[in-house]
This record gives sequence, structure tokens and C-alpha cells, in this order.
Amino acid sequence: MNETIELMLSHSSVRRFTEEPIADEDLQAIISAGRAASTWKNFQSYSIIVVRSTEKKEALHALTPQPAILQADTILLFVGDHNRASKAAELHQAHFDAKGTENLLISSVDASLAGQNAMLAAESLGYGGVFIGMIRHAAREIADLFRLPDYTYPLFCIALGRPNQHFPVKPRLPHEAVVFEEEYQEQGVETIIAYDQVQSDYAGARQKETWSERLVAQFGQAEYPETKALLKEKQLL
Ligand SMILES: Cc1cc2nc3c(=O)[nH]c(=O)nc-3n(C[C@H](O)[C@H](O)[C@H](O)COP(=O)(O)O)c2cc1C
Repeated sequence: MNETIELMLSHSSVRRFTEEPIADEDLQAIISAGRAASTWKNFQSYSIIVVRSTEKKEALHALTPQPAILQADTILLFVGDHNRASKAAELHQAHFDAKGTENLLISSVDASLAGQNAMLAAESLGYGGVFIGMIRHAAREIADLFRLPDYTYPLFCIALGRPNQHFPVKPRLPHEAVVFEEEYQEQGVETIIAYDQVQSDYAGARQKETWSERLVAQFGQAEYPETKALLKEKQLL
């Protein structure tokens, strides 16, 4: 065990913040740490929009009404981005086609690695935060609000600030349910039942549905149409 691993193991999302601002040099360090993450072929297929103005936070909150957005000192909006690649094609007068799932995975994975690096850097400086993926339910409006050009799409935000709440670390699935030796081991319903209990014990009255009920709600319905519509509009699908 060392300090870095201890920090990682003590992660807990923070959704309520004090009014203390994030120092400019800290924010710079958090973003630099994010950008230091590994990236597919060094393409760096994402952009980060730094949101600090009350006006923009309120506009974002109107589209994704989560209190963390209003309370956070800073919102980092991570955008999957193949727009710079289109400029490389222009430079070389080459054919350019960014459409397809592989390109979406490239930008989504790149942005996620950068986001997680940024989150850890923030936590190492005593700040806290939460990823907000629900922005994709208003993908179209968010793209307009932040003037996203072709070949870009909003992936998630990270709301960052000085924590005003401290929850114990949320227990993960047991090691053997997720980590397999040499080959995949499909799990039975017992794994789900057992983890429902672990989650209920952890969350108590704060949790209205079980973990498996939340999974069912996610996967028991057609996917939210907004993301696909925007991806088509931005020429990514
Ligand atoms: C891609 C992504 C999107 C998320 N979106 C939201 C969100 O919209 N709202 C929210 O409150 N939490 C969101 N979360 C936070 C998760 O709910 C949280 O990480 C998870 O429950 C585990 O809890 P922990 O981070 O405290 O360990 C998101 C996390 C990830 C990785």
C-alpha cells in the first residue's frame, strides 16, 4: 500500500460542496493531470470545457437538474472530439469519415481516462467531485449551449469543489464476481442477490430501489433517443 493507492481506495463521489473556490493553480494541476492520461495513438480525442460562470452553471442545471451542478465551483465538461482529426484531413486534403462505433469508443475511452485522472488529482488536493453522465439526456441542448461543432459530442461532466459531505466508501462487488483467472466465469443470480444486500446495508434509507432494480430500470427499456440523434447530427454515426 502507498499514498496513491490509499487515495484511490478512499474515493467516494461528492455531490454537495462548500462555497470555497478551487485555487486557479489547483485547477490547472487537475486539468494537466487529466490530460496526462494514456490516449489511443496519442490522438487525444476529447476536449474539456471549463465552466465556472454562474450563468453557464445555471443553464446547464436547467438541462440536467442535479444540485451538484449549481453548488460546484467548477464543472469540467468532457467532449468526445474528432473535430481536430477532420482538420488533419483538411490539411492533407484527405477523405474523412468519423462515423462508427470504433471511433466512438476511441473518444469515449480517451475522455474517461482523462476524467478519472482529473478526479483523482482533485481528490489528492482535498477537493471532491462527481461524474455526471445524465447530461446526455439533454445532449442536443448541451451541444447548442456549449457550441459544439461537427464530430464532437458531450460525454459527461465532472462537478468539482470543496466537499460539504463525506460518505463512507461504497462497497464494490466482491473480487471473485468481477476478477477471473484465465477465462470468463459467468455469474449466477446469487451474486446479484448477495450484492443487493450489501448495497442495501450500505445505503440504508437513502436507497429506494435495490441495485438490481436500478439495473433492470436501465436495461429494461429502449435506449434514450437523444444521444443517437445527436451523434447522427454531428456525423459520428
Ligand atoms: C460515467 C459516469 C456517469 C455518472 N453520472 C452520474 C450522474 O449523472 N449523477 C450522479 O449523481 N452520479 C453519477 N455518477 C456517479 C456514480 O453514481 C458513482 O460513481 C457510483 O454510484 C459509485 O459511487 P462512488 O463514486 O461514490 O464510489 C456517474 C459516474 C460515472 C462513472
